[in-house]
Amino acid sequence: MTSNEIRQKFLKFFADRGHKIIPSASLVPENDPSVLFNTAGMQPLVPYLLGQKHPMGTRLADVQKCVRTGDIDEVGDNRHCTFFEMLGNWSLGDYFKEEAIKWSFEFLTSEEEGLGLDINRIYVTVFEGNNDAPRDIEAAEIWKKYIPENRIFFMPAKNNWWSAGESGPCGPDTEIFYDSNEVLIGDINHNEFVKADDEGRIIEVWNNVFMQYEKKDGQVVGKLAKHNVDTGLGFERIVMVKQNGKTVFDTDLFEGLILKIRELSKIKDEKIERIIADHIRTSIFMIGDGVIPGNTGRGYILRRLLRRAVRFSDKIKIEGNSFSFLIDIIIDKYKDAYIELEKNKEIIKNEIKKEADKFHLTLANGLKEFEKGVDPFDLYQSFGFPIELTEEIAKEKGIHINRQDFDNKLKEHQDLSRTSSAGMFKGGLAGHSEQIVKLHTAHHLLLAGLQAIVSPNIKQRGSNITEERLRMDFMCDHKLTDEENQKVEKWVNDRIKENLNVIRREMPLAEAEKLGAQMEFGAKYPDIVSVYFVEDKEGNILSKEFCGGPHVENTGQLGHFKIQKEEASSAGVRRIKAILE
Ligand code: SER
Repeated sequence: MTSNEIRQKFLKFFADRGHKIIPSASLVPENDPSVLFNTAGMQPLVPYLLGQKHPMGTRLADVQKCVRTGDIDEVGDNRHCTFFEMLGNWSLGDYFKEEAIKWSFEFLTSEEEGLGLDINRIYVTVFEGNNDAPRDIEAAEIWKKYIPENRIFFMPAKNNWWSAGESGPCGPDTEIFYDSNEVLIGDINHNEFVKADDEGRIIEVWNNVFMQYEKKDGQVVGKLAKHNVDTGLGFERIVMVKQNGKTVFDTDLFEGLILKIRELSKIKDEKIERIIADHIRTSIFMIGDGVIPGNTGRGYILRRLLRRAVRFSDKIKIEGNSFSFLIDIIIDKYKDAYIELEKNKEIIKNEIKKEADKFHLTLANGLKEFEKGVDPFDLYQSFGFPIELTEEIAKEKGIHINRQDFDNKLKEHQDLSRTSSAGMFKGGLAGHSEQIVKLHTAHHLLLAGLQAIVSPNIKQRGSNITEERLRMDFMCDHKLTDEENQKVEKWVNDRIKENLNVIRREMPLAEAEKLGAQMEFGAKYPDIVSVYFVEDKEGNILSKEFCGGPHVENTGQLGHFKIQKEEASSAGVRRIKAILE
């Protein structure tokens, strides 16, 4: 079955069940300037999931274009892409769990109307329950009609609760996994299942979210007036499963493209071929939706992808102008499903060529400067080297780049709000002397310490850092005892003594939330966020917070941490002032 057939089959299956087919929205969200790209099928439908009437009715199905660049370093493995399509069926206050589960199962397994996949390789997870919502016995009972009970696993909110952000529709979900490699056949227990998932040996293909709740400022505040269903079936993944590919690149979506890249290049490198294929495909879709390369926001993400593609194609010695052939192949593959590509073909080719030429011109000079040890910020300013690219080149050459210094300089030169729209610095520190940067990292450790010692439920409510001290407001139902204060202080000092690395990663908001990264209560975040991690020597995450930085690179740089005062701030909110000596 070809990928085009799978798309059509999905839409027909749901059209036959009373769904109206709606076109994919643009990758660029229409009414939400704070978000760079649609990262999930549900994003364009949020107003309707919250209760607004949709002109096409209460049952919809679509194929939505999505972009997520937070995983960019993982592109080239078996399943990560920066652009992907999500097949979705939607109930806006219409059907609920019974039909949603039944239809997912039927579409996957029916020979005639669906994909005819093997029932014995399907595994599902359902929500185990918490304070926000009960254990989803109902979903599990429905699943039992279709698959044996020992292939249904209850999972916590971390896995089986879906929301797009801090505020909006949300709910428990049931995720459907397929064991394409038959690694699990037979009786497996919960732990074996989790392990197979973690190791990517089985693959999540479809998520059914029962959107019945509403979140405001990070808290579930109650039920929506109507229950909804939001489903997302990962297109590249399901094509891979259906076509028995080992990776998403072994599908008809990519095969012709990869072969062409191989033909045009002089060096064979499978991972680089995949990266180029992925990045060119994403760039084509972005330009097709009106994005052009630039230094901020969406344009910056596009520029970064294109420049990365150019650099990798140089590595495997693809001739200068060959992207044009690749663009033809991609547009040909997608032109029926996305007419905007054919329509904008010349613009797409032109923009990509312009950017590749521009980059080639500067690349040689920039690399020379780089070898001379020039400052990454100058490379960025004078040669248009995205810092991520400089970091990649530096890593290959074993050179250390001071990211903090770059971030500081960039902030001095750019208007903060523009860079935050680029998703690079959310809520960064306004002033950032060395001492402030240190106190900032201590602030993260303090929150982690409070959660480790006093209660895992502690949430930050506010913060303020000056040259002299940090101040943190946090929600807590009691005055800390002297013993708690001392233990928290010791916890932070122990982490300082352990010399732990402070690592920054950029990722889509939804992924950061799934990871459970700490957010400040009530704060708003962009589509692509940066998260700072502190890990212990065993690699366990001690602290993960949404943050613009800057931070020190290692906790060993902080000195001695001391809590000066713990007092009430307002009802249910405590305040700590602390210093570094
Ligand atoms: N919103 C859910 C997801 O993106 C299902 O579509 O996974």
